[in-house]
Amino acid sequence: MSDTNRVALAFSGGLDTTVCVPLLEEEYDYDEVIGVTVDVGQPASEFEEAEETAEALDLDHYVVDAKAAFAGLCFDAVRANASYQGYPLGTALARPVIAEAILDVAKEQDCTGLAHGSTGKGNDQLRFEAVWRDSDLEVIAPVRELGLTREFEQSYAEERSLPIEGGDEGKYSIDTNLWSRSIEGSELEEPSYVPPEDVYEWTTAPTAETLEIEVGFEDGYPVSLDGTETEPVELIEELNDLAGGYGVGRSDIMEDRMLGLKVRENYEHPAATVLLNAHAALEDLVLTKEERAFKNRVDHEWSEKGYQGLVNAPLVDALEGFIAETQTRVTGTVTIRFEGGQARPVGRSSKYAVYSAEAASFNTEDITGSIEQSDATGVAKYHGFQERLANRVVDGDGE
Ligand code: ARG
Repeated sequence: MSDTNRVALAFSGGLDTTVCVPLLEEEYDYDEVIGVTVDVGQPASEFEEAEETAEALDLDHYVVDAKAAFAGLCFDAVRANASYQGYPLGTALARPVIAEAILDVAKEQDCTGLAHGSTGKGNDQLRFEAVWRDSDLEVIAPVRELGLTREFEQSYAEERSLPIEGGDEGKYSIDTNLWSRSIEGSELEEPSYVPPEDVYEWTTAPTAETLEIEVGFEDGYPVSLDGTETEPVELIEELNDLAGGYGVGRSDIMEDRMLGLKVRENYEHPAATVLLNAHAALEDLVLTKEERAFKNRVDHEWSEKGYQGLVNAPLVDALEGFIAETQTRVTGTVTIRFEGGQARPVGRSSKYAVYSAEAASFNTEDITGSIEQSDATGVAKYHGFQERLANRVVDGDGE
């Protein structure tokens, strides 16, 4: 054990995490703060901002690349058709990955505490702490615990000449990673306010142009684009670019947060929309009716845990056991057309298709070699039998 008392802070270089640095030394008696920024696919400008702010604060700054781990989790989400109220969970899935990476750095650097700059209203505090409270380190949330407002943070930063110029963040609160870009705050908080075009960065407004692409899957995992095998991070980045250019993947939803608040949220997620739509289309081809119905329920539970940031829950392992069993047949390709801001499946193919052209056709007399049309006569006689019995009782007034 070293004798300096050190705390690891989840650091973005924004206002919240910048004011946390002096506060952790003054209000929480830490001798030293280290900042950790975890790369889950944020734009380069965010790392520059974090780097510059850290330097100006004389903060020891660590950057951890967790893109591959995060992309792996996003693809587990694809297998679970994961969506929470229409939101493909970008921020939610990134949080446990970020929290684990910060915990690793904190342990390596002999820290005794972990801190984040989340407020007491959002979901992120819960997602971070679900991971951190499983360790022996002290967990600190200065903004929440000291009841800080943005106005207070601004004047506190000015008083101490903290470097916040680069970190003014514009008027919206933005959270970006590989899987989604979330835009919150300012006028957008009002549900009736129509988002202006300039809130979008990943998507252009849909035009009349269309494009068809082909996504390949193996065991439910996306593996190729237009026939070329592509690694997860690259596949997501390429699809964000490509589909974003056709206005694919915008959503504007009312979201029920974990603590009960209902909030208006705007998101962009072109790659997630393409991969989720394509995956669902392939499942429709290869799973039986009963598997599809039951998997809907399993997927819903997976999505709830994903939103809560609890992807390590035993329930998730159990759900994934079922999911894995179904995905052994989710191998094949799906053609997606970008059209009018949609990513619509327009073709699918798999060697595991339950569909049989011969069985569905009206033109063949002997359908599968063992069943004939006339075999349906008995089934047709019975269909609705109980309803006829019940209606007879009602019509006859119980006589
Ligand atoms: N509401 C979303 C969630 O809880 C996204 C929050 C993103 N944060 C932001 N400052 N835009 O997962």
